[in-house]
Amino acid sequence: MKTDAIGRRTMLAGVIGAAAMSSLPLGARDPQFKVPVVDSLTLTVLTDSGTFGPFLPDQDLPGLKVLRAGNGNPPGYTRMSSKALMGEFGLSLLADSLAGDAARRILVDFGYTAEVLANNMAMLGIDPSSIDASVLSHGHLDHYGGFPALAGHFARKGRPLPLYVGGEEAFCERVAMIGNPPPVMGILDRAGLTKAGYDIRIAPEPRIVADQAFTTGIIPLLTSERTAIPTRMRPGTGCDRQRLRSDKRDLAEVTDDGEHELATCYAIKGLGLVVIASCSHRGVLNSVRRAQAISGISKVHMVIGGFHLVRPRTEEEARQTVTAFKVMDPDYIVPMHCTGEIFIEEALRQMPLKIVRPYVGTRFVMG
Ligand SMILES: [Fe+2]
Repeated sequence: MKTDAIGRRTMLAGVIGAAAMSSLPLGARDPQFKVPVVDSLTLTVLTDSGTFGPFLPDQDLPGLKVLRAGNGNPPGYTRMSSKALMGEFGLSLLADSLAGDAARRILVDFGYTAEVLANNMAMLGIDPSSIDASVLSHGHLDHYGGFPALAGHFARKGRPLPLYVGGEEAFCERVAMIGNPPPVMGILDRAGLTKAGYDIRIAPEPRIVADQAFTTGIIPLLTSERTAIPTRMRPGTGCDRQRLRSDKRDLAEVTDDGEHELATCYAIKGLGLVVIASCSHRGVLNSVRRAQAISGISKVHMVIGGFHLVRPRTEEEARQTVTAFKVMDPDYIVPMHCTGEIFIEEALRQMPLKIVRPYVGTRFVMG
């Protein structure tokens, strides 16, 4: 990795250009918070549900190259290896950005299992010790479960890896409302994270990550999207109840409202915002609105992640989100993970040129 360029942070939102800036009635914007602007961004799918053989062509689209694993990507990838990229119900993305001569690499979420994350990173030639920072979008097992895959890689280099989390709630035990009795999802192991070499940083407000990305902090509910989260959390089990919101801390169990959930975002020079929505339990549109409000940038280049337009959300809500996306008019939408087939079918019907399907190992190169 290349080193810091002094003054890189002075590349501010204004570089995007006045045309993309607008006064947005989307929630308070802190004038002190200036988002960084990068020259380029490559997102690599490390964990998602789907894998695909070497039969999909790469694509060269306006402002976006889509490189499929196995088409000579990445260099050194062994074709017809006895090992294979693995899919699972979880999400993990690697983000490589460049601003001037400063390169940064961050990991967004860890997928469901360490086995899959470690396997896929090894096959894609990604050295865990090259990662500069990490973000956990929320405290669900399918996003944090793989964190042990990176254990020890940072401590060996004598530096803990920053891990941004949106709130103490991430550490509360979760119960999944998907059976009777509802199965316990488990607890994000705070001590295990520290032992593995992560430096936990709780950030309920927008935060710049590794100089080049930013997180949204708490996502306000500003659109028709509601919180519809298929889990409940247990204050005091795994998390410190005194650090929770006062109306939650004394309850034994409370329905999740996604208060701690984060989106991770970039502003790319000349292209606009990239919003990594992870699981969108507070709504993918709300996540994008939050990124726009924080940055003052209205132009959206890509929205990528799980949009959770499956139960407890309805098919009608999935269709409403497609309609709203048409109005928002991002350049590209990459539906992953928990998005659901109804949204994908409807979005492909209404906006076929905007939808790009991801598979494990796919790289999205922008700028
Ligand atoms: Fe998820």
